[in-house]
Amino acid sequence: MAEEAVIRVENLAARFDGRTIFEHVSFEVRRGEVFVILGGSGSGKSTLLKHVIGLYPPAEGSIHILGEPMGGLDGAARTALLRRIGVMWQSGALFGSLTLAENVEVPLEEHTDLPAEARSLVAQAKLGLVGLADAAGRLPAEISGGMAKRAGIARAMALDPPILFLDEPSAGLDPITSAGLDALIRQLARDLGTTFVVVTHELQSILAIGDRCIMLDKQARGLIAEGDPRRLREESENPVVRAFFRREVLA
Ligand SMILES: Nc1ncnc2c1ncn2[C@@H]1O[C@H](COP(=O)(O)OP(=O)(O)OP(=O)(O)O)[C@@H](O)[C@H]1O
Ligand SMILES: [Mg+2]
Repeated sequence: MAEEAVIRVENLAARFDGRTIFEHVSFEVRRGEVFVILGGSGSGKSTLLKHVIGLYPPAEGSIHILGEPMGGLDGAARTALLRRIGVMWQSGALFGSLTLAENVEVPLEEHTDLPAEARSLVAQAKLGLVGLADAAGRLPAEISGGMAKRAGIARAMALDPPILFLDEPSAGLDPITSAGLDALIRQLARDLGTTFVVVTHELQSILAIGDRCIMLDKQARGLIAEGDPRRLREESENPVVRAFFRREVLA
């Protein structure tokens, strides 16, 4: 039996002021996989993410998450759906005046009726999952960049979403910290069955964590590849895809 699609994007187009960023974009994300969105800077990766989670209305096409049409929901149904997805943005900003535990509690305060003690227990548990149990009382300024990324993931996981979106989780991290974050993503996917949609352009991360990927291209204004990244590296005939996966200079 085919794996169930938790996200279905059909013929999506993104335009700003009449300028097409991408069009004819279709893909599915299956339950429990780590799905990677890749492409050069400015190819529209973050824009695609913002469309998928309903921040921008599509110029064309449709998006379904967990079977629900993103565009067709009213206030309450939309909020309920948004509660089921966690997002860590590229800027990843934690609230600077709040401790890590308090940061993780923010979505719980906004979206649940949990009493303070329960919120605190959940926050502690989420920080434990990302290896930050001992840093719960620290402020963002008192931790490293890698720890801040992990805290951002803990906050995105606060409401136990079945789908987590991470926009460039390892940007700006050293290779060892970045590899640790990759291992964490794989572990969470395996242990919790969470579906991950990860935006990155780091080749090593893609090969380490990605079950499947899509590649956006600025010139093509759309998708130029889809599939298992290891196979794309070996088999793609597209010169841009080959250059990316083999770190070759494009002729
Ligand atoms: N709200 C917006 N209004 C107008 N143009 C936008 C908006 N958001 C994004 N763009 C444009 O869309 C294009 C794609 O931007 P996007 O941030 O999605 O790229 P990206 O692939 O995430 O790049 P990076 O790897 O640098 O993060 C850019 O040309 C950007 O200027
Ligand atoms: Mg981006």
